[in-house]
Amino acid sequence: MDKPSEILVHNHKGGTGKTMLSVHLAHYLARQGQEWCLWDADQQGNAMSWITEFQWDGAPTIRLSDEGQAELIATVDEEDAIGRDRLLVDTPPSENTIEKVSSGIEISPETLLICPVSGRLSVDGAVKVTEEVASSGCRVLLVANLTDPKETHAREEIHALEEMTALKELNAEAFQLAIPRNDKYMREAEEKGIPIWDLPHSGQTYTGKALRAFCEWVYRGAPPEENPPTTPAGEKGGPISQELKERLWS
Ligand SMILES: Nc1ncnc2c1ncn2[C@@H]1O[C@H](COP(=O)(O)OP(=O)(O)O)[C@@H](O)[C@H]1O
Ligand SMILES: [Mg+2]
Repeated sequence: MDKPSEILVHNHKGGTGKTMLSVHLAHYLARQGQEWCLWDADQQGNAMSWITEFQWDGAPTIRLSDEGQAELIATVDEEDAIGRDRLLVDTPPSENTIEKVSSGIEISPETLLICPVSGRLSVDGAVKVTEEVASSGCRVLLVANLTDPKETHAREEIHALEEMTALKELNAEAFQLAIPRNDKYMREAEEKGIPIWDLPHSGQTYTGKALRAFCEWVYRGAPPEENPPTTPAGEKGGPISQELKERLWS
């Protein structure tokens, strides 16, 4: 698949990491040199808050550009978002979200729908959203978030994702590296309005590595042969070890 230009982040269930993933992906993608628009389609405006260090003044559209980064546009304005060349949508958790969003943007085989999963109820949400978009042919990328595979319920969740990907009528794939909970750095990243890997030391945590590997995989069009992925070549710490993979994905 070519590099994606339309990405929706959705699960019917709240609190699974939609906004967290959207913000990280938006920063990651803009840093690869092309302008991206992050459409915060959730009335709560959590993505707007995160990327402005909680300084969002309610302006519908804001522009960010770090050094060496293409511009990142963040908007709550649907009309401003629709029609952008590269669009990433952070959605609210409700039953009719896909219906609402798809009145403005066409969900097609070129769309990537990213569905973070955390907890049993969100597996149900993932099944619903995957069924909902199945006829459009869009790819669904499932990712386990806030997950510690040492816990029984987390293993059940990861197993459920594997089962979903085995169902041929659903066009779902699962990122094979679960993203663990890391409250300390995640909270600090949110407060500072940056992705977790920009904090000193946090890039070397399991969460930082798994999250960056996920963004890299999405940026490259989620090629199956790169799942499970490694960290970008030459980075200190090298590829994610087999040991780590087993810890996170057992
Ligand atoms: N892997 C993670 N580790 C630690 N905290 C996380 C992680 N993923 C999400 N969070 C936190 O959990 C809360 C819910 O995540 P959020 O992205 O807002 O979910 P959603 O948008 O699906 O409702 C937020 O405070 C977020 O910062
Ligand atoms: Mg959210």
